Amino acid sequence: MEPRSAPKCIAFFFLPLLACVHYAQAHPGRPSIDSIFSFGNSYADTGNFVKLAAPVFPVIPFNNLPYGETFFGRPTGRASNGRITMDFIASEFGLPFVPPILGKERNFTRGANFAVVGATALDLAYYLENNITSVPPFNSSLSVQLDWFRQLKPTLCSTPRACRNYFKRSLFFMGEFGGNDYTFLMAAGKTFGEVAPYVPKVVRSISAGVEAVLKEGARYVVVPGQLPTGCIPIVLTLYASPNNRHYDRRTGCLRKYNALARYHNGVLFEAVYRLRIKYPAAKIVYADYYAPLIDFLKKPKKFGFSASSKLRVCCGAGGPYNYNMTAACGFPGVSACTNPAAHINWDGIHLTEPAYERIADGWLWGPYGHPPILKATRQ
Ligand SMILES: *[C@@H]1O[C@H](CO)[C@@H](O)[C@H](O)[C@H]1NC(C)=O
Ligand SMILES: *[C@@H]1O[C@H](CO)[C@@H](O)[C@H](O)[C@H]1NC(C)=O
Ligand SMILES: *[C@@H]1O[C@H](CO)[C@@H](O)[C@H](O)[C@H]1NC(C)=O
Ligand SMILES: *[C@@H]1O[C@H](CO)[C@@H](O)[C@H](O)[C@H]1NC(C)=O
Repeated sequence: MEPRSAPKCIAFFFLPLLACVHYAQAHPGRPSIDSIFSFGNSYADTGNFVKLAAPVFPVIPFNNLPYGETFFGRPTGRASNGRITMDFIASEFGLPFVPPILGKERNFTRGANFAVVGATALDLAYYLENNITSVPPFNSSLSVQLDWFRQLKPTLCSTPRACRNYFKRSLFFMGEFGGNDYTFLMAAGKTFGEVAPYVPKVVRSISAGVEAVLKEGARYVVVPGQLPTGCIPIVLTLYASPNNRHYDRRTGCLRKYNALARYHNGVLFEAVYRLRIKYPAAKIVYADYYAPLIDFLKKPKKFGFSASSKLRVCCGAGGPYNYNMTAACGFPGVSACTNPAAHINWDGIHLTEPAYERIADGWLWGPYGHPPILKATRQ
């Protein structure tokens, strides 16, 4: 990373080198981010869903090995074999892994994670009012997560001024949101033509979420977009087509589903642009989940993945993508592959630790963060 002091050193190049060294030490170029607050779904959950669902579901796959087998050596509620994107970003800022709001940790001084597996951008009530019953009964949408944040706030800071100063030094994550909304709408039998008009509504909800935290004093907000949905093994399995033209030739992904994700990402990118104009003091990063996945699939070896794994799930049981919904990862008899580090996809929906690590690196330093998080937080 380029040290913040570089321009000064160049401007005063005639000064003794020591002066530059001292300046660099006083301003090491590492931003002071003291906490992380995160909102989102299963790509960001670090243990909320397993607590929320425990009284309802007899078996929660995320609560069983081999989830968590890498790094943690036990299931943590993360939908991966190991760490997720946000874990790597927290470590980069010298912060602990962001504790789930419903978990055992009660000290949220250094941040809290409100993300829940299955969370939607639109409210449960909205879906129920519109007779869309394919949405799981958990009340964990973006606005509910914001309510949890507001409930936590008085324990973090006491005066409006103190709170603004506190959140100014926090990094906020708003997403990914939207993927579940579209999945549940399609599960309700809606066609692409019927789902597409929901995109602006979903993006408005995400944008309102960003504004809500900016109004609390947030300065740094990361807004992740959609993954290429058409490359996700559960989608490839459920919506398999006999028509070759429905698949992208290079990646093997379903084109229509990727087009919907790109449409969402375009509308979201534009919303982020508008927010930057409305809140010029804020640094809002659009975090790309789409491009890295496509890059991994096109050149797996360049990123350390095996050429044969690509769209094949590591932890699964049979089928062309090694994904079987009735025998999913975390259920008895389903085991992980022997080389998860060479795989991109972990369980048919979520990614492996190395995939998340490469995405985190791209968000932090580029090219997948717009602008890169470390650049945004330096200002
Ligand atoms: C919470 O954690 C912070 C820093 O991690 C520490 O300074 C503080 O004393 C802790 N608060 C309690 C009540 O333990
Ligand atoms: C939902 O279903 C109920 C009962 O079938 C019906 O009365 C109502 O009009 C429906 N609402 C919408 C928005 O379709
Ligand atoms: C979800 O929780 C919120 C509070 O966060 C509440 O206002 C709302 O009525 C709940 N919705 C449903 C459908 O239970
Ligand atoms: C999926 O799993 C079920 C239950 O174990 C099994 O009966 C079925 O044959 C499997 N399907 C495939 C395609 O492997």
